[in-house]
Amino acid sequence: MLFTSVNRSFQVNINIKETIMKTKKLLHVIFLSSTVLCFVGNAVGSEKPALKDVYKDHFLIGGAFNRRLVSGKDPNAAEIAIKHFNTATPENDMKWLLIHPKPDQYNWEPADRFVDFALKNNMVPIGHCLVWHGQVPRWTFRDDSGNPLTRNELLARMKDHITSVVGRYKGRVKGWDVVNEALNDDGTLRNSQWLRIIGEGKPEQEYDYIAKAFEYAHQADPNAELYYNDYSLDTSKEKCDGAVKIVKYLKSKGLRIDGVGIQLHGGLDYPDKESLDGSITALAETGVKVMITELDIRTRARGYRGADIGRINRQSTSDSNADAEQTQQRLAQKYAELFSVFVKHKKDISRVTFWGVYDRTSWIGALPCCLTGTISPNRLSMP
Ligand code: XIL
Repeated sequence: MLFTSVNRSFQVNINIKETIMKTKKLLHVIFLSSTVLCFVGNAVGSEKPALKDVYKDHFLIGGAFNRRLVSGKDPNAAEIAIKHFNTATPENDMKWLLIHPKPDQYNWEPADRFVDFALKNNMVPIGHCLVWHGQVPRWTFRDDSGNPLTRNELLARMKDHITSVVGRYKGRVKGWDVVNEALNDDGTLRNSQWLRIIGEGKPEQEYDYIAKAFEYAHQADPNAELYYNDYSLDTSKEKCDGAVKIVKYLKSKGLRIDGVGIQLHGGLDYPDKESLDGSITALAETGVKVMITELDIRTRARGYRGADIGRINRQSTSDSNADAEQTQQRLAQKYAELFSVFVKHKKDISRVTFWGVYDRTSWIGALPCCLTGTISPNRLSMP
C-alpha cells in the first residue's frame, strides 16, 4: 500500500515536472513562430522572456486562475502565471453559483483571494461574470415557494447581486464581463430564464435584461469597464453580428459598454484567419475594445465546436492523439497564426487571456493551452 502511494506521488511529481518542461517548450514555440519575433530577438536564449513582456506594446496577457492557484495549492501554476501574465480572470469563483450560493449568503473568500493575488502580483483583475445562464443557482429565478419570479422581482434580485459583487471590488477589479453568452449561434438572443422572465415574451423588452445588467454594474462602480462576452464570435458571422447589435443597442440607450470579449475556444482548424479578422474588425468598428478572453485550442477534431458548458467537459474533449508530433506541430502553428491576427489588430485588442494556465488543469481535455506542448521549436515553420 505504502509503496503504491509513494510510487503514485513520485509519478505525480514526474508529471508535474514534465508539464513544466512542456510549458517552457511551447512558450518558446509561440515566441519563435509569432510575427512579433522581431521584438524578442533573444527569446531563443536559455532564459525565455515573459509573454507579458513580449506583448507589452500590444495588449495585456493573462490567464484564468482556479482556486488552487490563488490559494497556493498549485505553486507550479502560480509560478507560470506570475512570470507570464499581467492580467487575471477567476475561472469560476466570481460566478453566481460560487459567489452567491444562497439568497442570503455570499461566499467572498475565494474571490477576495483571487483579487488580492492578482493585485499583489501586478496583474489587472477582471471580473467574470455577472449575468449568465450557466453556473447560476436555481433559486435565482424562483420565489420562496418555488414559483417563477416576476420581471420586477428578478430585476431586483439581479440588481442586488450586481450591486453587492461589483461594489465589493469597486476600484480594484478593472472590468467586468457583465453579460456572458446571451446569443445563439444564429445571432438571436438565447432563450434563457433571464430573457424569458425579464423579456416577458415581448419583442420590445428583449434586450432589457442586458441593458439593466449594464446599468446596474455602472451604478455600482462608475469607473469599471463593462464588457459583453461570448463564444463562437470568431467563427460565426451571424453570432458576431448579434454581438454588434447588442453593443449598438446599449449605446443607443446611452449605456456604458467598453468592450466585447471573443472567448475563442478554438480547434486545430478553426477559427480561420479571415473569419477571426472579420469579427475583430466588425466589433472594433462599433467603437469598443475587443478582447480575447478565454483562449484555448482543443486538438480533438471530432465533435461539437462551440463552448456551451452543458455540452463539453474534459472527458468529451479528450484526445488520445494529442501528444503526436504532427498534432503538436499543428497546435503550435495555430497559436502562431492566431497571434499574428491579434498583433495585426493591436490597436483594437486590449487583452489576450488564456483559459487556464496549463493542460492538466484546463477544462478542455485535449491539450488546449498554449502553455504546454511537446514540439521542438526548431521544427516549426514561420507563419
Ligand atoms: C468553465 C470553467 O473553466 C469550468 O471549470 C467550469 O466547470 C465550467 O465553466 N465559457 C465561459 C467560462 O464563459 O466561464 C467557462 O468556464 C467556459 C466557457
